[in-house]
Amino acid sequence: MAEIVIVENAQAAGELVADAIASLIASKPDAVLGLATGSTPLPVYQALAARAAQLDLGRVSGFALDEYVGLPVSHPESYRSVITREVVEPIGLDPKLIHVPDGAVDTIQSAGSEYERAIMSAGGVDLQILGVGTDGHIGFNEPGSSFASLTRVKTLTEQTRRDNARFFDSPDQVPMHCITQGLGTILRARHLVLLAFGEKKAAAVAASVEGPLTAMVPGSAIQLHPHATVVLDEAAASQLQ
Ligand code: F6R
Repeated sequence: MAEIVIVENAQAAGELVADAIASLIASKPDAVLGLATGSTPLPVYQALAARAAQLDLGRVSGFALDEYVGLPVSHPESYRSVITREVVEPIGLDPKLIHVPDGAVDTIQSAGSEYERAIMSAGGVDLQILGVGTDGHIGFNEPGSSFASLTRVKTLTEQTRRDNARFFDSPDQVPMHCITQGLGTILRARHLVLLAFGEKKAAAVAASVEGPLTAMVPGSAIQLHPHATVVLDEAAASQLQ
C-alpha cells in the first residue's frame, strides 16, 4: 500500500517533494531523478529552483519518462524542450546529465532499448516523480499496458490527446505516438512519488491507489512497489475510501 499524503495545495506538495529530493541529494550527490512532464510536477521543479543555491547539483542526473514521436526536439512542446525550459534551466542541472527518450522516427526501433541501457548504466532511478492521466496512465503507459513493459513506442489515447491539446495550437497537432518508459521500468525506481491535484484526477487516483491491480489502470502498478508515496490535494483525494 502506498503512503498517502494529503496537503493543502499544489505548492505545499511541491515543497514536500522538494524536501525529499534535497535530502536524497544531500546523502547521494550523484542521485538519479526520474522526471515527469505535464502540469503536475511544476510546483516541485519551482520549489527546487528556489532552493537550488543551497543544493549541490553538479552530479545529479535525470531521466524523463517520455517523449512524443515525430515531434522535432526543437518544437517548444517536445518533452526535451519542456524539460530544458522547466527543469534543467531553472534548477541549474547539468544538461549533459539529463536524458529524454529519443522520439526521432528513423531511430525509433532501437531508442527504447538504448534508453533502458542508459538508465541501467546510471545505476537506476533513485526517485521517480509521476503524474497520472485522467485515464489512469503513468508515463504514457495507456490502459492495457503490461506491468512488465519496458521503454517502447505507444499510441496515445484520444483522451490523452484531448487532455494535452492545451499545449498545442490545435488538438490535431498533438502527436499520435510517444516513446515512454514502461511500467516495468518505472517499478524499478527505488522510490516512486506520484502527485495529483484537482477533482479531475480523483477517479484515476482512487483507481490507482485502491482499485484492483489491472492493466486497464496503469497507475495501479504503483501498488506493487515497496516504496511509493502519493501526494494529493483534497480534491484529488476526494474519491478515496
Ligand atoms: C508526463 C507523463 C504523464 C503525465 C500525465 C498527467 O511525462 O508521463 O503521465 O504525468 O499525463 O499530466 P498533467 O500533469 O499535465 O495533468
